[in-house]
Formats: sequence, C-alpha cells, structure tokens
Amino acid sequence: MPAIYATAPGKAILFGEHAVVYGYPAIAVPVLQVQAKVVALPNLSGPKGEITLDAPDIGLHADLEKLPGNHPLALAVHQTLATMGVERSPAVILRITSTIPVAAGLGSGAAVSVALIRALSSFLGKPLNDSQVCAAAFEVEKTYHGNPSGIDNTVVTYAQPVYFVRGQPPCPMRVARPFTLIIGDTGVPSPTVAAVTDVRDRWLAERERYEALFSEIGKLANRARPTIEEGQLEELGALMDENQAKLEQLGVSSPELDRLIQAARQGGAQGAKLSGAGIGGNMIALAPAEKSAQVEAALQMAGAVRTIVSVVHSVEKHEPD
Ligand code: MEV
Repeated sequence: MPAIYATAPGKAILFGEHAVVYGYPAIAVPVLQVQAKVVALPNLSGPKGEITLDAPDIGLHADLEKLPGNHPLALAVHQTLATMGVERSPAVILRITSTIPVAAGLGSGAAVSVALIRALSSFLGKPLNDSQVCAAAFEVEKTYHGNPSGIDNTVVTYAQPVYFVRGQPPCPMRVARPFTLIIGDTGVPSPTVAAVTDVRDRWLAERERYEALFSEIGKLANRARPTIEEGQLEELGALMDENQAKLEQLGVSSPELDRLIQAARQGGAQGAKLSGAGIGGNMIALAPAEKSAQVEAALQMAGAVRTIVSVVHSVEKHEPD
C-alpha cells in the first residue's frame, strides 16, 4: 500500500455567519493559500487495526485508542471507518499538518477533518466522494462545535464558492468576474463555540430583535449572490459593510476587528467585515486588484499579525458525486 495524501483548503465567510446557524442563507469561499494536509503512511510493523495519529504542529503522537473518544481527530477516523463499513484498518500512521491558523475563523478544524477523511478512505482503497466526505466532516463538527450550520465543512469539502442554506444541498457559485479579498488576522483567538453560544443566549433573551437581525443578514447574502454570479461587483463592498454593521449589532465584533476593518476601508478597500465566528480571528476586505498591496500594508500597519491575498474565482469540478 503506497503512502497517500489529501489536502483541504481554508475558508472565509463572505456573508451570513451566525445567521446561517438559524436557517438564513450565507456565502462562503475557499482560501486556497492555506491548507490542511494529511498523509496516510502504511505502518508495516504495526498490528492490524493500529491507527496512529501524528500531528507535530500540536505535539500530538498517539494511537487512536489512547485519544479521548470526542477528540476531533479520533472522531474523523471513526466517522471514516463507519461510513466505509470498515472495522479494522491495516496499520497506518496519519500525519497531519496545516498552514491554516487555528481558531481564527478560517476553517482549520473542518479542513483537517476533510483532509483526514479523504486520506484515510483513499488509503483503504475506496475514496469517499465529496458528499460522503462532507457528511462525515459535519458529524465531527457537530460533536466538536455544538450547533454548526454545516457551512464550514461544505465549503472546505467542495473547495469552491458556495451559497449555503442549512439543511439544503449547497449551491456552487459561478463567479462571473474574479475578485480579490485581503484577509487580516487580529491574532486574537476566535472561539467558535463560545461565539455561537453567546449569540444563542442573546437570541433566547431577545428573540424578535435577533431574528430580525438574522433575517436582514440573510437578505444581504441574497443580494450579494447575483452581484457575484453576474459580475456586478460594484455593490459587493457596500453589502459587506452592511453585513459588518449587523455583526456589530449581534455583538460578535471586537475592537481589534473594528481597527483592522477601519484600516482596510481607509486603505482603499471597497468594503470590509469580520469573517467567521468573530470576537477575534480574521477580517476580510474587498479591493480592486491594483489596490490589494495598499490595503494589505494598511492592515499590517494597523496590527494584523498575518495577511493573505486571495482571488475568488469559479472552480471547474470534474469529480462526479
Ligand atoms: C463559523 O465559520 C460560522 C458560524 O456561522 C458558525 C456556523 O455556521 O456553524 C459562526
């Protein structure tokens, strides 16, 4: 059995984070500049059934059975075996690395799950298709994140821009005119579970107000969809700004995010907003390609610990599902 590897990209949410948890539409795009990679190496000296997880970035080297059952890597392995109906795998070492910043709103957890599920299923001789990979990664997200909408595992699995409504099949988006995002990292952790739980508590306390905010955010995603699919990008930045205003009202922005968003706008961006769960993590700015270096410099000056320039475009998919 040869060594096999699989990768999965990071992601950014262009519109609709948080509201998407409550059934409103959202738009997410892959961030191909960062990725998780999992190599499945046959362990010729190991006994059948032995699965070793080796994640040097987080100092983890352990046999599957020694990990707590709710560890996300263990969950991803179990989901893969269960989906494939495999009880005992040949001995294998799964080496996990990632360039996606952790807890930063860029989908690192989902990407690791997707890459692992793909690598292990390929190693076992029957690579799962995209919808199986997506479903297995969603199960991991559910245990790990509590109440995920499924948008992260979806965009990371399909690695293309998606219009997403919870519980419905994802709609891959055609991007009529590629556009440039500049991503800036506050360096402050963005704890998804905590942010989603905070928003839920506020929603429970003031249902009408929060439901109205979610609905307005959903409308922004719906207005953004044709602008992207038809290449009328002029309005896109303003829609991002409006989405950010609603996210501020939801209480998930932060002084660090606000500072980077302001700096991007002053540096020439057409619009900017936080991306992901918020509180910390990353923000995204839309800028004409010729201004991306200028916006990136503005973000760095304002304290971004890392910046990524990512061009969003359509992706031709050849793999049948
Ligand atoms: C996290 O990337 C996006 C959230 O909307 C949570 C989710 O949709 O599962 C905050």
